[in-house]
Amino acid sequence: MDSTTIKSSPIDGQKPGTSGLRKSVVVFQKKHYTENFVQSIFSAIGTDVVTGSTLVVGGDGRYFMTEAVELITRIAAANGVGKLLIGQNGILSTPAVSCIIRKRSATGGIILTASHNPGGPNGDFGIKYNISNGGPAPESVTNKIFECTKTITEYKTCPTLDVDISSTGIKEYQVDGKKFVVEIIDSVSDYVEYMKKIFNFSELKAYLSNPTKPFKIVADAMHGVVGPYATRIFCDELGLPIDICINCIPKNDFGGHHPDPNLTYAADLVTLMKKGIHAFGAAFDGDGDRNMILGQNGFFVNPSDSIAVIAANASCIPYFKNTGVKGLARSMPTSGALDRVAIKDGLQMFEVPTGWKFFGNLMDANQLSLCGEESFGTGSDHIREKDGLWAVLAWLSILASRKLTIEEIMKEHWSKYGRNFFTRYDYENVDTEAAQTMMTNLRQLVEEPKFVGRSYTEGSKSYIVKLGDDFEYQDPIDKSIAMKQGLRIIFEDGSRIIFRLSGTGSSGATIRLYVDSFEENVQFHGVMASEMLKPLVAIALRISQLEQLTGRQSPTVIT
Ligand code: G1P
Ligand code: ZN
Repeated sequence: MDSTTIKSSPIDGQKPGTSGLRKSVVVFQKKHYTENFVQSIFSAIGTDVVTGSTLVVGGDGRYFMTEAVELITRIAAANGVGKLLIGQNGILSTPAVSCIIRKRSATGGIILTASHNPGGPNGDFGIKYNISNGGPAPESVTNKIFECTKTITEYKTCPTLDVDISSTGIKEYQVDGKKFVVEIIDSVSDYVEYMKKIFNFSELKAYLSNPTKPFKIVADAMHGVVGPYATRIFCDELGLPIDICINCIPKNDFGGHHPDPNLTYAADLVTLMKKGIHAFGAAFDGDGDRNMILGQNGFFVNPSDSIAVIAANASCIPYFKNTGVKGLARSMPTSGALDRVAIKDGLQMFEVPTGWKFFGNLMDANQLSLCGEESFGTGSDHIREKDGLWAVLAWLSILASRKLTIEEIMKEHWSKYGRNFFTRYDYENVDTEAAQTMMTNLRQLVEEPKFVGRSYTEGSKSYIVKLGDDFEYQDPIDKSIAMKQGLRIIFEDGSRIIFRLSGTGSSGATIRLYVDSFEENVQFHGVMASEMLKPLVAIALRISQLEQLTGRQSPTVIT
């Protein structure tokens, strides 16, 4: 069959954000919208690289995904791609795509997801390009894609190409006289096989199903893509009954919920855990890269602590016994808990901007093994994406080898390293202009010459400003610079207030306020983070005038 060229013209607003292009489904359904963006990916990569290349394609099962897979297949064939590896029915979790790109030495991959954003006809959709290391394309590439969307005049497609993606197997076609291969792969196998190399499954199995002392767990996939991965790992491999997997049938609208594993959107799991029946509970987001860990009675593990605990106990995980731990990293707003581990254990520590794409270069340069973000992202250099199920298996390995409860592990960790108290307030769908005014005002404030040294008091607590800036990062490997990555106010006692605007929202603006403080004294470790951080939150709201400017009296989500 032959390809053809369809005339098109640039469409505004196709700039990839923190994690790919994310918009509402209705926007992606507009004439040429998806086609333009997909063609721009191929144009940005360049004919040399695209010709004969192998690409992985898959997504989280959300509404519009199958249509997008079909479109991508046709555009890929017309652009000279040699082979597509597509998950059965289009299903692949984000970590699985990263794993498959690496394992099969693909040129890259296209992931169809809007992560934790709601789905369905009125929900969101997203397209993200990952490069050959398995990680999200760096800004140099996403900027190129954006430039192509601004100058596009036509796209190539192969309208007669119809590929059945419902059964596994290899299919060959002739497009423009050249071979075009589509391999439909089992969505789960490559990923599970890899997890079995990283963790000791027989040890985990023995621990979880110990007949005298079974360790009861529950996994909530929130109707996202994790369902089939969780059931394969927990039930088929680790021998647990199917009822430990809840909401594990993927739905294209996530059952009408927000597939975001946090205390607000995974409230059902929190309620279940509070009954005290289970020792371990985990939830995952739509595309399977985020995770939330809960202990018995709903004990919440803050994601900033989660990565610190995994780093401190890395020797419980076979993968790190082999590779060692090369270095640690966190995104800037993530609490300093991981830094304490790096200092005490003599490891190199990196602070990068928000977004997983900033970890990839450090991993490729063998300088980074474990990293995390406060936004429920935890991972390692086993792939180049954060990985929800990996985090759960890491925690289970630690619990199996340490023979402690989650709460005991956390308390022991704080007594050894001190405790960072952390909270994040999200104000979703705020008026864009109001959010921008707030950020502009704050930027002016932190850049005032006399800002450093200024004192802020709330109740009996006073804080003196040590540093104020808009976070800037120079990648130590490729030396690229990322500017304006979040406004930081750091006080002399090390406490921090950070403001950022989200780069993943699809409408209006989302303001994120992050507050982090450190307490060495074990006497205070049991205090609720909300209590401990009250004065700093009050100061943050006062300095920013957030409530007056946005008209919002309270955040949409508190973590
Ligand atoms: C959010 C999180 C960020 C994460 C990203 C993708 O981005 O804050 O840590 O990497 O989602 O999962 P934001 O909306 O803040 O730009
Ligand atoms: Zn996600």
